[in-house]
Amino acid sequence: MCGIVGYIGDKKAAPILIKGLEKLEYRGYDSAGIAVIENNEIVTLKDKGRVKNLLKIDGMESLNSGIGIAHTRWATHGKPSAINSHPHSDKDKCFAVVHNGIIENYKELKEKLKNEGYTFISETDTEVIPNLINYYYLKEKKEDSKALLRAIRNACMDLMGSFAIEVISKEKPNEMIVIRKDSPLIIGKGENENYIASDIPAILPYTRNIYFLDNYEFAYIYKDRVDFYNKNLEPIKKETKEIKWDSSDAEKDGFPHFMLKEIYEQPRAVRETIGTTLDNDKIEIEGLELEREYLKTINKIYIVACGTAMYAGLTARKTIEHLCNIPVEVEVASEFRYNNPLIDEKTLAIYISQSGETADTIAALKLAKSKGAKTIAVANVIGSSITREADYSVYTHAGPEIAVASTKAYTSQITMLTIMAMHFAEILGTSSKNEIEELKKCLLSMPEKIEETLKVAERIKEFAKKIYNEKDVFFLGRGIDYPVCLEGSLKLKEITYIHSEGYASGELKHGPIALIDNGITVVSVITDKDLVEKSLSNVQEVITRGAKILLITNQNIEKKGFEELIKIPETNKFLSPILAIIPLQLLSYNIAVEKKLDVDKPRNLAKSVTVE
Ligand code: G6P
Repeated sequence: MCGIVGYIGDKKAAPILIKGLEKLEYRGYDSAGIAVIENNEIVTLKDKGRVKNLLKIDGMESLNSGIGIAHTRWATHGKPSAINSHPHSDKDKCFAVVHNGIIENYKELKEKLKNEGYTFISETDTEVIPNLINYYYLKEKKEDSKALLRAIRNACMDLMGSFAIEVISKEKPNEMIVIRKDSPLIIGKGENENYIASDIPAILPYTRNIYFLDNYEFAYIYKDRVDFYNKNLEPIKKETKEIKWDSSDAEKDGFPHFMLKEIYEQPRAVRETIGTTLDNDKIEIEGLELEREYLKTINKIYIVACGTAMYAGLTARKTIEHLCNIPVEVEVASEFRYNNPLIDEKTLAIYISQSGETADTIAALKLAKSKGAKTIAVANVIGSSITREADYSVYTHAGPEIAVASTKAYTSQITMLTIMAMHFAEILGTSSKNEIEELKKCLLSMPEKIEETLKVAERIKEFAKKIYNEKDVFFLGRGIDYPVCLEGSLKLKEITYIHSEGYASGELKHGPIALIDNGITVVSVITDKDLVEKSLSNVQEVITRGAKILLITNQNIEKKGFEELIKIPETNKFLSPILAIIPLQLLSYNIAVEKKLDVDKPRNLAKSVTVE
């Protein structure tokens, strides 16, 4: 899982590549490198460490080339080191390649190439790619204009696994070829220049006109044109799509970290996700035209996702089951894939993914599709891989999310899934008009209520200062508050490295209560008025055993006995997770800041997990 960038045009490539890589560091940041063509030779500069270290490498400043490829790495095969960093070259230093993905059969290919006299210097799977290209190129007639393209195509046909690849060659110093299979890659069309990247933020400062590549589509890129070919190298036509994101959306806008900026962007993200869906008499969701006859045949809904997106799914389950009367199962994609799930044409399968590129989620979607289920993707990135696989795609409009820890994408996902549940209920007639109307009203007031909730920031910051040295923190919630606790606990683990557990309040006494000791911090979330008494008695159980409580609630509960009580606005029960998560996001953020950790790029994590 890595980020790749490419440039071809009249400007100096190196600074553009480095700037692009910085925008993609959320995809990986243990090593980085660039390769350009100077005086008909490939020049590669790379090292382990962050992208900014590239600037210190000798020779970087004097690169004048207008063509180059670049890579920021998240190690899978071979430790982070200068040798294992990308770009990689073939034994004759004729080609340079950057790669995002995993070549599953690289050992076999390496052996085959070694038998042909090829040598390897890195431990990576990627190094087989330039050597394979070399192997096939030697079989071509150099004067044939498609020789390089054919060599790359033949090499790619030997690869198993996932890849987004950029190739430059000293044989063709003004051309670049890129291809993808199951890893993201986009091309930004400029005036007399073209940009290539794994993700939109890297090229947003330069262009908004984007070509999206499908699996096994090859792009032959010159500075003033892009030719596309299919697997058989027949020319194909592709149109650009216009991306509406503002380039400042991908900058920090004065916030110290992307995560904090994104937490504060939630009113807008939720407002834009609601968009015009509620404007008319009946709810309308662009891209989702499901007939009543079809919906009536559905006897089970699967929600499948990873990480935070899966926790959004756990909240949505409660809303869908309540409004639509259809049983919902929620599963992490990596388990779903191998559990032989019971799916047929009466199953509706919903896949949630911010990036739309999570490998397990995409594979899980393909599986359900192959078993006859209809599939819906709920994604944040337009044109992302998952949206091209799904039968229907709906979008959250959170804008680019850069911090590895997801915040605004999560609240936007809950928003969109609630709208979807209301839409299905309206079609099926499973919920009263009044209930839908009340939910609509509450949804429309969400952006203001989020603004109001954000006002707790200072008090949360103070609380974070008291507990940032803790070793363990527990999160307790019942009913609709339980998935929020799971997400709150995940946020804490991800960015503060504090061990934490999210528990259903009532389950605590069946084991974990043994861990509650004098002085331990417990965060309790209580927003369902019907469960206040029960939840409070669980809180009492841990107070008795010496726990300090941070209580997040929208109910009128007396502060007595709690270390801190944070009041959030009241709303419909099914929407309260959107508000309750905000103090928890802020808590993790402030603890990470207090501990002087890298908030936006926590250790070992990547924003987009495009490998299994
Ligand atoms: C990674 C990220 C998480 C994210 C998960 C799913 O683990 O660090 O923040 O929730 O992937 O990503 P997706 O893009 O599919 O929502």
